[in-house]
Amino acid sequence: QSVTQPDARVTVSEGASLQLRCKYSYSATPYLFWYVQYPRQGPQLLLKYYSGDPVVQGVNGFEAEFSKSNSSFHLRKASVHRSDSAVYFCAVSHQGRYLTFGSGTKVIVLPYN
Ligand SMILES: *[C@@H]1O[C@H](CO)[C@@H](O)[C@H](O)[C@H]1NC(C)=O
Repeated sequence: QSVTQPDARVTVSEGASLQLRCKYSYSATPYLFWYVQYPRQGPQLLLKYYSGDPVVQGVNGFEAEFSKSNSSFHLRKASVHRSDSAVYFCAVSHQGRYLTFGSGTKVIVLPYN
């Protein structure tokens, strides 16, 4: 199993929408996660997908959509705040074990003025 986050860095203006791409390679239906790591903190769980509705709501207005046919689990937010500047990690797990992380996407939110 592997996780690909094609963008190492994304710059976005405050108030704009954000999409962070994640593709996974895993044969069975995976468990999928997005974590956020704010500066000088450990990673925190944003949201997870196990089964059911492919659109998963997370904290702080984030949501992600599971697509089995695309092998993707992209994260999005309609309107970003400056406090969303952080590193975002997509992860896949085999039945809740062996969590494999992507390389992370650093999001930089530029002030709107
Ligand atoms: C899957 O890929 C197709 C073709 O690129 C795209 O139109 C569609 O929005 C994708 N679906 C999801 C849920 O990402």
